[in-house]
Amino acid sequence: MNQQPSNRPLTPAAGRPSDSRRETRPEGNRPPSDINSRPKKIIVAIDGHSSCGKSTMAKDLARAVGYIYVDSGAMYRAITLYAMRHGLFKDGRLDEAGLEALLPEARITFVRDEATGLPRTFLNGEDVEDAIRGLDVSSHVSPVATLPAVRAALTRMQQEMGRGRGIVMDGRDIGTAVFPDAELKVFVTASAEVRAQRRYDELQAKGQPAAFDDILRNVRERDYIDSHRAVAPLRQAPDALLLDNSHMTIDQQRAWLLERFREKTKSSDN
Ligand code: CDP
Repeated sequence: MNQQPSNRPLTPAAGRPSDSRRETRPEGNRPPSDINSRPKKIIVAIDGHSSCGKSTMAKDLARAVGYIYVDSGAMYRAITLYAMRHGLFKDGRLDEAGLEALLPEARITFVRDEATGLPRTFLNGEDVEDAIRGLDVSSHVSPVATLPAVRAALTRMQQEMGRGRGIVMDGRDIGTAVFPDAELKVFVTASAEVRAQRRYDELQAKGQPAAFDDILRNVRERDYIDSHRAVAPLRQAPDALLLDNSHMTIDQQRAWLLERFREKTKSSDN
């Protein structure tokens, strides 16, 4: 099961350094003698293109092996929603200085949903999990994610969450910039059409329908911007395993990832 404490923040405010290690890592104070009797915990970094099912894979693995799961994309989405609500997009352009100034006030936390066992994203105490998944936020997130100040703040928070290892994190730069020393790195991709169809189905199921062509355009645009930005561009780490899941079922990719995890933890057992 996911080990996040319920109703307690998992992450500190975006702009402030964290002092919440004890809160996020209740097991962090284990005596050294314990270390030799347990398999070593690793970091699993899952990166890849938009809408290719990274989060599903990452959540499934975390649940199966009892690791913490962190969706780094949700953090970029939450900051984007924050910028939108503060009117920082003017004529489609982001007021970068305005966002940088307000960043220390944006507090992103994850709270475990007791019904599903999965984390929900909160922005300054408000549950924004549904609000951040719509096409509106998807269409504004890439410029926010290119901002060095935003990346620096979120990367710092993500590294803090992974300090005790035992974490599965998915995103764009987890294996390259956030945890270059992750023991297991996977780079996931699928064709743009397959990915757009998956996102379309997901939004339909949630009652947030959008036109397929708009979604496909957004998928392609984000891929382009994510891969071409100056800071932490989307890139396969040299030591990452490539997974094209265009023709795989969720069960097949779940089994594939679990097998890779077992290989890594077997060889790193003490
Ligand atoms: O849901 P989807 O896979 O399409 O995207 P996401 O993981 O929710 O991430 C949303 C956006 O945040 C991406 O398009 C990236 O621009 C940005 N992002 C990033 O720059 N770095 C990360 N580690 C995660 C997301």
